[in-house]
Amino acid sequence: MNKFIQDLPKAELHLHIEGTLEPEMMFELAQRNNIDLPYKSVSEVKEAYNFEDLQSFLDIYYQGSQVLQQEQDFYDLTWAYLQKANRQNVRHTEIFFDPQSHTDRGIEFTTVYQGIYRALQDGKTQLGISSQLILSFLRHLSAEQAFATLEQALAYRDTIVAVGLDSAEQNNPPSKFKEVFDKAQAEGFLTVAHAGEEGPPEYIWEAINLLNVSRIDHGVRSLEDPKLLDYLVDRQVPLTVCPLSNVELKVFDSMTEHNLKQLLDLGICATVNSDDPAYFGGYIAENYQAAQAALDLSKQELYQLAKNSFQASFLPSESKHRLISELDDYLETAKL
Ligand code: HPA
Ligand code: ZN
Repeated sequence: MNKFIQDLPKAELHLHIEGTLEPEMMFELAQRNNIDLPYKSVSEVKEAYNFEDLQSFLDIYYQGSQVLQQEQDFYDLTWAYLQKANRQNVRHTEIFFDPQSHTDRGIEFTTVYQGIYRALQDGKTQLGISSQLILSFLRHLSAEQAFATLEQALAYRDTIVAVGLDSAEQNNPPSKFKEVFDKAQAEGFLTVAHAGEEGPPEYIWEAINLLNVSRIDHGVRSLEDPKLLDYLVDRQVPLTVCPLSNVELKVFDSMTEHNLKQLLDLGICATVNSDDPAYFGGYIAENYQAAQAALDLSKQELYQLAKNSFQASFLPSESKHRLISELDDYLETAKL
């Protein structure tokens, strides 16, 4: 089954590029940029990755991001991710970046953007992986700060497909960002938002009704609200589920408790993604594998998850169809 999963053509739709910073690269970049890390070794870093909840992760994640300083650092980070994704047959990826966690430290928006974007272009030409960029606002910061970030992004409007919302969910509801999301849509950006990870189903409703999102990131707490489930099924609003993240951040006590299979059984367009793979113990294939093993997912269900990932992407419909036929061919061959 692991080989079937590894080679399954798939799209990744929920991946924070800063969350792909492996401890080894953290040390390399700290040295390159003359930064003191609060850790002595890679194993000490890994020991610190023992999270109680979202906030305890975010503290360490923002601290780790500080080693990213130069355009080349952002390039190297993104390129390393793309090579891993390529080995797991990711055919298309939609990547979040958190400009505010860099601009707040004095790094120029352009430095961050150019490094990531250049690697994505190389990913396309050298690895055949298509990609889109999603600018994510930090919801623990103010709406005014999000507006300022949006202003900086306007120069890159043609290569940033959407805006999103991440960071500490509790007490930072989607409604806080309604105006800035209105402005982003007026400028032509699509919208997504993290909702229903730690926050209640009402935050998912707000993301839908106030932010007009095309997808919900996480959304696993939708299972608590039958009306919301009906809505998500009827409209086929995709959920970008991140199984290892949810277990590491104690959204579920264990993988066997995860509701991914229930969501699929209900007919929700659920997808599997890695969120912050360097922090949560695995890239996209490991996420499929962990969920498959704990929930006893069949090849047909794994196929459905991969198909949903293409369907839920922001690709034009011709590209979706091409990738779904590649997936269909793969399933045919795998049956032989
Ligand atoms: N939730 C909220 N903010 C984040 C996450 C997440 O899973 N990953 C990186 N920033
Ligand atoms: Zn996330």
